[in-house]
Amino acid sequence: MSAQELIASLDALGTELDVELQPLVDEQSIRAAQARYLGKTGKVSAVMKELGRLPPAERPLVGAAVNRVKQGIEDQVTRKLAELTDAAARLDLARVVDVTLPGRPVAGGHLHLLTQVRLEAIAIFAELGFVVAEGPQIETDWHTFEALAIPKDHPARDMQDTFYISSRNDEILLRTHTSPVQIRTMLTTTPPIRIIAPGIVYRRDDDATHSPMFTQIEGLVVDEGISFADLKGVLLHFVKRFFQRDLAIRLRPSYFPFVEPGAEIDMQCSFCVDLPSGKGCRLCKGTRWIEIGGSGMVDPEVFGHVKIDAEKYTGFAFGMGLERMAMLRHGVTDIKFYYEGDIRFLEQF
Ligand code: PHE
Repeated sequence: MSAQELIASLDALGTELDVELQPLVDEQSIRAAQARYLGKTGKVSAVMKELGRLPPAERPLVGAAVNRVKQGIEDQVTRKLAELTDAAARLDLARVVDVTLPGRPVAGGHLHLLTQVRLEAIAIFAELGFVVAEGPQIETDWHTFEALAIPKDHPARDMQDTFYISSRNDEILLRTHTSPVQIRTMLTTTPPIRIIAPGIVYRRDDDATHSPMFTQIEGLVVDEGISFADLKGVLLHFVKRFFQRDLAIRLRPSYFPFVEPGAEIDMQCSFCVDLPSGKGCRLCKGTRWIEIGGSGMVDPEVFGHVKIDAEKYTGFAFGMGLERMAMLRHGVTDIKFYYEGDIRFLEQF
C-alpha cells in the first residue's frame, strides 16, 4: 500500500468507529469498541505494521496521520461517554418522587420493663386515692431503723444487711427498704395520709432472685378507723389489677418491728394457678403461693417517734418488690436481666 492509501484507510477508521458507537448505551461496550481500534491488536496497530514497508521519506507523513487519527478516536470516545452521563443525569432529574410511599421506619426505644411496671403500679394505687411520696436513697440510721422501732441492738437489723456510706460512721447508709419514706411523710404531714413510695433500695445480697440494688414500692395509710381489712382490700385490688386476673392473696403472720400485727403478703402463684390441683411449680417451689412483700398495722411505737396520736389514729403499711412482680407477670428468670441492658431482653417488653 502506498502512503496515500494508508492515510485514506486510517481516516476511514474514524467514520467506521462513529457508526459503531452510535447504538451503544453503556460504558463497557464503548470501552470495548475503543480497544478494537486502539488496542495492541487493534485496527490502528494493523495499519502501523504497514509503516515499515514504506520508503523512509514517506514514513513521517503517515506517522503524523496515525497520531491524528488516534487522537480523533480518543475524542470520539470521550464525547460518547459524556453524552451517556448527561442522559443519565437528565433521567435522574426527571425521576418522579412518590410521596405516598411509606417512609423508612425510625428505630425508637421504649421504657424499661421496671419503669413500665412502676408507672403501672402507681396508676393502680392512684385510682384508690394514693399519691406518690419520695425520700433519699442515702438515709440516716434514725429514719431507716430507729424510728421504725429497730434500735441498734435489735436482732431484726440482721434481716437487712446494710451498706454503710463510711466505715467510721454508721449513722449514714444506703436505705435497705422504702419504709423510711413512711417516717419522712408522717413527720411532715398530718393524717389522713395515703401515700405510695416507689424507690430503689440496697442490700448486701446477690443471687438469682436477689440483687444488691432493687426496687420496692411502699404504701402507707393513716387515718381514723383504718383496719387490717382495709389493708387486705387494697392489696387484693392491686394484685387483681396488676396481674389482670382473679388471684387470691394470703396474709401470713410474720414479724416486722414497725408493724403489729405484721404479715407477709403471699399471692397465688400466677404460673401454676391454671394447672389442675396438685404439685405447684418450680417457681413457687410446689407451694402454689408466692411471697411478694411485707405488711401490717403501723406499730403505736412508730407513731410515737413521729408524734402522731396513736389513740386517735391507726394505719397500715406494706412494701413489695417490683422486680419480683415483673418477674411473676413476665416470666423473667433472673433478676440480673433487668440491669444488664441486653437489648435482646429489653426488646421483649
Ligand atoms: N420494709 C419491709 C422490708 O423491706 C417491708 C414492709 C413494709 C413490711 C411495710 C411491713 C410494712 O422488708
